[in-house]
Amino acid sequence: MKIAILGAMREEIEPLLTKIENLTKHEYASNIFYTGTLCGKEIAMAYSKIGKVNAALTATLLIEKFGCQKLLFSGVAGGINEALKIGDLIFGEKLVQHDVDITAFGHPWGFIPESGDFVESDGELNELAKKVASKMGVKIIGGTIATGDQFIASEEKKEWIKNTYKADALEMEGASVGYVCKCLNVPFFVLRAISDTADMDAGFSFEEFLVSSAKVSANFLENMIDEL
Ligand code: ADE
Repeated sequence: MKIAILGAMREEIEPLLTKIENLTKHEYASNIFYTGTLCGKEIAMAYSKIGKVNAALTATLLIEKFGCQKLLFSGVAGGINEALKIGDLIFGEKLVQHDVDITAFGHPWGFIPESGDFVESDGELNELAKKVASKMGVKIIGGTIATGDQFIASEEKKEWIKNTYKADALEMEGASVGYVCKCLNVPFFVLRAISDTADMDAGFSFEEFLVSSAKVSANFLENMIDEL
C-alpha cells in the first residue's frame, strides 16, 4: 500500500523529505512529487502550495497518478479552541470549507448542493493518532477544522468561524483535501500543529512558529507512519 504525505508549504514536508530513502523526484502539473520509502513504507509526498485549489489538485494527483491508497496531511493551523496553545496538535475529525457562501439561495454557510458541508476523516487513522500520542506522551485533540482561502488575522472573523462552524482550528487546505479523498474513497487524516491563534498578531506568530510547529506535526506523522 502506498501512502500519500501532503503539506501545503515546503516547511511542512521538509522535515520528512530529508528522511525518505530511495528518493525519486517527479515533475508534474507545475509541482514536484517525491516517491520513495519512509519507515519502510512506500510513500509519495508533495507540498501543494497554499490554498484549497492547489491542495485539491495535489491530493487528486497523489491518488490518481501516484496510486496512493491512504492520505495523511501534515502542517500548521491557527488555533480557535482556547485549549490549543502554540505547538499543540489537533487532528480534524470533521472539516468544512468556511468560505463557501451560497446563503443567498437559502443554503447554510459552508454547504454546497449535492456535495454537502462537513467531511469526516478516517476513524481508524484518528484512533491510531490517539494511540501514537499516548505512546509518545504528547497531547493531541480531535476536533473540527475550518478551511478557507484566507489567512485569518482578525478576532472578529475568528469568532465568526468559531460560532458558525463550532471549529477548533482553521487553515487553508484540509477540507478540500478531505473532500477529494471522500469522493475517491481514500481514507484520510489531517494533522495540524498550532502556529498562531488567528488574531491580529497571527501574521507575526505564524512567521515565528511556522518552522517549529511544522516540525512537531511532521514528527508526529512520522511516528504514525511507522505504525501503519
Ligand atoms: N494556517 C496557520 N495559521 C493560519 C491562519 N491564521 N489562517 C489561515 N491559515 C492558517
